[in-house]
Amino acid sequence: MKRKFIIDTDTASDDAVAILMALRHPDIDVLAVTVVSGNMHVRDGSRNARYTVELCGAQTPVYVGCDRPLLREPVHAYWYHGPDGMGGMNYAEPGLQAQKARAVDALVELARAHANEVTLVTLGPLTNIAAALARAPEMAEQISRCVVMGGAANVVGNVTPAAEYNIWCDPEAARIVFRSGMNLEMVGWEVGRGDAALTDADIAAVYALNTPYAEFAMDCNAHAVELAKHWQGDPGMTLHDPTAMAIAIDPGISKRSGHYRVDVELRGELTRGMTVVDERHTVGTQAGFTDEWGVRERNALVHHALDAPRWKELLMECLK
Ligand code: RIB
Ligand code: CA
Repeated sequence: MKRKFIIDTDTASDDAVAILMALRHPDIDVLAVTVVSGNMHVRDGSRNARYTVELCGAQTPVYVGCDRPLLREPVHAYWYHGPDGMGGMNYAEPGLQAQKARAVDALVELARAHANEVTLVTLGPLTNIAAALARAPEMAEQISRCVVMGGAANVVGNVTPAAEYNIWCDPEAARIVFRSGMNLEMVGWEVGRGDAALTDADIAAVYALNTPYAEFAMDCNAHAVELAKHWQGDPGMTLHDPTAMAIAIDPGISKRSGHYRVDVELRGELTRGMTVVDERHTVGTQAGFTDEWGVRERNALVHHALDAPRWKELLMECLK
């Protein structure tokens, strides 16, 4: 039987590749794609998600969700992902329409209808998930596994020295999710760096597959690669959401992980959105310690690094 996934996404170029991987994988059934404000306005994220679903010949329902963070002003990243979020490729308007129902309602209902069966993969700010948890706190128990692309596990961030974009963008939502009791896994942005980035040779090998999926995946991320050369970006094509999706599909791709208490900084003058990972379990060792939430348990499996050849192999398989 296929595994059931729900993908929550602020669909831009690397999100699109992650969605495509799940849709093309023979063992995965994507129940829904829910769109949230983040890199893109939800209007653009919805269009990009629907285009990707259509490209895969799927009928997966796409739901539009929250159009801004819980408390903060939205900060998009068109400068990075291109004016359309797809590297300026200006793909045709998809025929597939967004569902009339709202993403938050869909998340609550699908989690209830498929209790203990669903892997939720989040590729954007956690606003939709926090809103769904506010509506139905039992969702934390109903989702069997939630893989979060977000954060930086005690390493430098990508939007500030302390924080990664998805968590920084809506830290209040992220804190709600990390404190919800859901079975969480965190794939920070550092996991997609270094040898996980696609080299020029990897990119050429993907194009050589000569499929519409391979071409799409490389084309819409080319803008980010070029930008990185002229900005302080990493070399190669870094695909953060797809690396999280790879671990969601095949947990064996994770090479190093640990189970820790993770919390999110809201008020830090320099550290808004920092994911504070208690790698030494200091909080749990303080006798009698509980915060105002009464939480001190380890709340997330944090992935630190992946097996780069295996991740690239899986990507190639999905793009064939
Ligand atoms: O920080 C990485 C995240 O923001 C990913 O979700 C990616 O889509 C990006 O731009
Ligand atoms: Ca994303």
